[in-house]
Amino acid sequence: RSGGDVVSYVLAIDQGTTSTRCILFDRRATVVSVVRAEHPQSYPRPGWVEHDAARIWRDLQKLIRRALREAGIGASEVAAIGIANQRETTVLWDRATGVPVAPAIVWQDTRTDVSHLDASFVQDRTGLPPATYFSATKIQWLLEHTPLLKERAERGEVLFGTMDSWLIWNMTGGLHITDVTNASRTMLMDLSSLDWDDELLAIFGIPRAMLPEIRSSSEVYGTADAVLPGVPIAAAIGDQSAALFGQTCFEPGEAKCTYGTGGFLLLNTGTTPVRSRHGLITTVGYRIGDEKPVFALEGSIAIAGSLVQWVRDGLGLIGTASEIETLAGTVTDNGGCYIVPAFSGLFAPYWHSEARGVIVGLTSYITKGHLARAVLEATGWQTRDVVDAMNADSGLALTALNVDGGMTADNLLMQIVADFLQVPVVRPMVAETVSLGAAYAAGLAVGYWSDLRDLRANRHRAGSWRPALDAGRREHEYANWRRAVECAVFFSRGDQ
Ligand code: G3P
Repeated sequence: RSGGDVVSYVLAIDQGTTSTRCILFDRRATVVSVVRAEHPQSYPRPGWVEHDAARIWRDLQKLIRRALREAGIGASEVAAIGIANQRETTVLWDRATGVPVAPAIVWQDTRTDVSHLDASFVQDRTGLPPATYFSATKIQWLLEHTPLLKERAERGEVLFGTMDSWLIWNMTGGLHITDVTNASRTMLMDLSSLDWDDELLAIFGIPRAMLPEIRSSSEVYGTADAVLPGVPIAAAIGDQSAALFGQTCFEPGEAKCTYGTGGFLLLNTGTTPVRSRHGLITTVGYRIGDEKPVFALEGSIAIAGSLVQWVRDGLGLIGTASEIETLAGTVTDNGGCYIVPAFSGLFAPYWHSEARGVIVGLTSYITKGHLARAVLEATGWQTRDVVDAMNADSGLALTALNVDGGMTADNLLMQIVADFLQVPVVRPMVAETVSLGAAYAAGLAVGYWSDLRDLRANRHRAGSWRPALDAGRREHEYANWRRAVECAVFFSRGDQ
């Protein structure tokens, strides 16, 4: 299967927060077929977000078959499968039956409590500030709220996995592994040893027997016999790490920002983890086979595209997500209105799990156009917050921002980001960078692509936006944004 004439494609799976995608790439990183299925978001109580993991697995099986059918190819023409996934989302399932024991708790869910944790210990050990975002307290919550689950987990009868683990377990018929990028998001992995940490496991009451084995992001784990018999699964990588890899940010100092459900800015910091002093996360960027892991500093924004989704589904102000650009284009500014979408608390650089969303600056003058503008600007200001933190941590000023993800189709948003950051914003030809990264990692493992230079050759820029906003106005509005953030922190969960 290594680079011969018979095998011609790599299959990437992007199991994201709102949808699952399957994309076939050829050697020049051209998209040969792309299929997609949305899955329901369940919000059973304020702050709770759940997924049906069994449904996602069923979706995936259909999507894989459809992707091959649409490309007119058979399993023997797939060189390898690479999986990228929404990170942190927590699935617990029964080892014997393969049935999830409860709905998956999604990364955006804030039902758990982290206030009792020793922040400096947790951050030092894992690179993460304690937050409801990560898997540890979600596993703990499920173990504590489901009768007999903890005893069963101790006996190894119940397994934990992020979506990569869950899908690999199903595709292979029982292989229980994860990759180091996903493991680094659980708040259970020691960033120095890259192994599960016994002290943390004891703090959260999580039995080691339920955890997957931690592997690299790019190696052959097994074959996908349940869907494509004989085809190797050769990569698993958290979606934001996958985007870093897909953007070919292989050198220290290179960064990208992906705008999907949330927004995630990752800066490659090389083979030594850099500790943040300004509210960023230290995380694993990727690890290829036995090579040294590459680390990243990450600025995570919880709500970006999902704010647009809420305007569509929750408020009904627009019929499709792309209409937000048209609506925002009916006005020239926000009219004094700011939206802080702290639906899941505030992530980087604030880390206030208790904060809740606010809309401020309302007067009778405000129209839905102003609201739409404030929606897009919220993503711009949140990016500014994490870029400022990144610049302060690295001591260097970012000179351009590589972007990707669904929201980058919104030209007004891209212009807003360039204006608020005061640097050019650059979008690559293949906007499906998450999938591309998963494909690259899998293709490297089986020799479909020979090395990183091979991958870099595929990089082509498709669009760019230059800053055009007056500096005085920008800084005035940024000060307003910061005051709006204070309101979101002030109006915290405890006050409701
Ligand atoms: O950490 C959460 C992230 O991995 C989710 O990404 O693209 O599904 O919003 P996305």
